Amino acid sequence: MDLRIDLLKTGIPEDEIKGLRSEALAAYGDLKSGKLEFSGWVNLPESYDKKEFEDIIAIADEIKKKCEALIVIGIGGSYLGARAVIEALAYNADPSGVEVRFAGNNMSAVYHEELLDWASKRDICVCVVSKSGTTTEPAMAFALFKDMLIKKYGIEEARSRIYAVTDACKGVMREEVDKEGYKSFVVPDDTGGRYSVLTPVGLLPIAAAGIDIRSLMEGALSACKSYGQNASLTDYAVCRYLLSQSKQIEIFEYYEPSLQYFAEWLKQLFGESEGKEGKGLFPASLSFSADLHSMGQFLQEGNQIFFENVIDVLNPPTDLILPDSAGSLLAGRSINAVNRAALNGVIAAHRSVGIPIVKVEIPELTPYFFGQMIYFFEMTCAITGLLMGVDPFNQPGVEGYKSEMKKELMK
Ligand code: PA5
Repeated sequence: MDLRIDLLKTGIPEDEIKGLRSEALAAYGDLKSGKLEFSGWVNLPESYDKKEFEDIIAIADEIKKKCEALIVIGIGGSYLGARAVIEALAYNADPSGVEVRFAGNNMSAVYHEELLDWASKRDICVCVVSKSGTTTEPAMAFALFKDMLIKKYGIEEARSRIYAVTDACKGVMREEVDKEGYKSFVVPDDTGGRYSVLTPVGLLPIAAAGIDIRSLMEGALSACKSYGQNASLTDYAVCRYLLSQSKQIEIFEYYEPSLQYFAEWLKQLFGESEGKEGKGLFPASLSFSADLHSMGQFLQEGNQIFFENVIDVLNPPTDLILPDSAGSLLAGRSINAVNRAALNGVIAAHRSVGIPIVKVEIPELTPYFFGQMIYFFEMTCAITGLLMGVDPFNQPGVEGYKSEMKKELMK
């Protein structure tokens, strides 16, 4: 069984969806044709560089042998995909995988001091992921961790513990890689950060964590092949477009806390792809059942500016049977069954007040199905963006705060 999309609870009449189907399929055709700039991810599952892929696996094996923990330095599209997969599939990882921690995704001294302290007590390697090499957060973290590596291991050994993923030929990181002789992989030119998880950007840290990247790519390939043949996949993009006419916010809801960073990845994917020219849905995420106890009131009775996307893991990797002391309603039941009762109950309650709901069912949290889900959401996002009339692959607005911050630093 594959990923399944349930659009029956969106409240959108079938004929409205059908009315836009050909436009969505035309957008899909444009994406597949490769004529759009930065659409290198579209055919990637079919055409990725097999030699580079084997090199990634070999270097990941080297990292696994060399250290017990890997510090992955990067921000935005240069780390969210890897973190999403590693945290969601931790249960599925091979024990030979290294422990992965993330740095350079914020400007907090407290965060980095704690992580440096943690790393100082372990045998570590560093993987720095930055296309430009000049992004402030990873540049600061890389300087700190390089300093630590040199003090701990000496300059030669430090060099052999640094792995880089960066531009093929330009930028300060590429210059440093070439000068210092770090082992490196390339961030492809035709793929933006938020679509790059299935390139070395995501694959190297994911493989080092002990997650089967062959299976991840096979899942992405199966989604790549079924997209365009399965109307429910393009229909989801159409539904999002239609809902964006009356709603301002879309919420991604999950019932497995390990999906927290997958939701963060989704927020960047949709927010950065569609939020431009005064258009786009504001992507938000909620972790259930925890957030039902904080946001449940708003969802049930507040201003209905949103619709919901429920990410439903049909078979979680483990379960627990509740003991007698849990009380008559719960005793003897499995905790997954209670979680499912919550999911079904929330959908019924929210539908009763007219909230549009899309359910995305993932059979299991495995690399294969995760690969399907990654490709599926990337394609959905790109198609909805094209239906909205925006370029889903640029992000001109992210420069605004950076130039103001630079002025502050130069004062
Ligand atoms: O998706 C994007 O393009 C951004 O999130 C970038 O990945 C992020 O800003 C990091 O950039 P760089 O890889 O150049 O350090």
